[in-house]
Amino acid sequence: MTITLSGVTPSGSLTLGNLLGALRQWVRVDQHRPGALFFIADLHALTVDHDPARIRRLTRQAAATYLAAGLDPELCTVFVQSHVEEHTRLSYVLECTATDGEMRRMIQYKEKEARERARGRSVRLSLLTYPALMAADILVYGAEEVPVGDDQAQHVELTRDLAVRFNQRYGHTFVVPRATHPPVAARIMNLQEPGAKMSKSEEGGGGVVYLLDDPDAVRRKVMRAVTDSGSEVAYDREKKPGVSNLLDILAACSGGGERPDELAGRYESYGALKKDVADAVIAVLEPLQERYRELSRDPGYVESVLRGGAERARKLARPRVDAAYAAIGLLAP
Ligand code: TRP
Repeated sequence: MTITLSGVTPSGSLTLGNLLGALRQWVRVDQHRPGALFFIADLHALTVDHDPARIRRLTRQAAATYLAAGLDPELCTVFVQSHVEEHTRLSYVLECTATDGEMRRMIQYKEKEARERARGRSVRLSLLTYPALMAADILVYGAEEVPVGDDQAQHVELTRDLAVRFNQRYGHTFVVPRATHPPVAARIMNLQEPGAKMSKSEEGGGGVVYLLDDPDAVRRKVMRAVTDSGSEVAYDREKKPGVSNLLDILAACSGGGERPDELAGRYESYGALKKDVADAVIAVLEPLQERYRELSRDPGYVESVLRGGAERARKLARPRVDAAYAAIGLLAP
């Protein structure tokens, strides 16, 4: 059985980028493989300055969004990271396996550290050690495949290194995982800044389409998307990043299976393209939002899914963490 695991940090409301780059693949493909796990990485949301009430709200919202997007708790395990203490239990052991230099080389750490300092904030130690916790997330379940965006590839690479090192030093304990990347539209860019990924944690969401945005907001954001110089609709990620991003979104949302470069030929103007992009995105979001509203009327249901998911996850994780504790030299209680 190939165990697949993935998660999203509730550092903001989930975006169209999360849906097209991750969630949709989880729903269509990954959850149908036995042993698939999807979680909300709430502990990871504490690595930067945060508001407790907001994290609580975003965690609930992410859980309901997973289900609204089509994750089926009958098929896969859906849970909240902090509900399964095995993650933090193992994380410490992996901090004792990793080196300080290794952690400091992580691109995401360097970027976020610079950003926190530029904002005059102190940098939390957990921002540095975060990859050890992420490695624990993966290794506790013996996950082989980790579907993530390119920005997480380095963390999965580090997880592999830690697994191999631990196994060599202390005896075979961990499955060595690998990252997998969804085929298309893995990287939806910010509509206002097509050079940057459409990130949920950026403030001032003018270029970010959130999954719970109402149709008017979606239309407004798409119609105001930055396009490129010239007026020809062509697919060229380098020279025309804005228009190409819109074509990628259209290809991913229109469901006709056409490639973005094929779609480009149909448009004479940016305006016409944007109108179709807005319609296609709204049509994709509508059923998700409808299910989200239904789930919101029944918060007890979402809670019960999370409770059941955590229970299952704990059972899976426990023996491996016990084995790692024993292997590294800790006396069994
Ligand atoms: N770090 C990931 C992100 O920010 C979320 C995450 C945490 C994750 N632990 C994971 C993803 C384990 C895959 C596997 O998006």
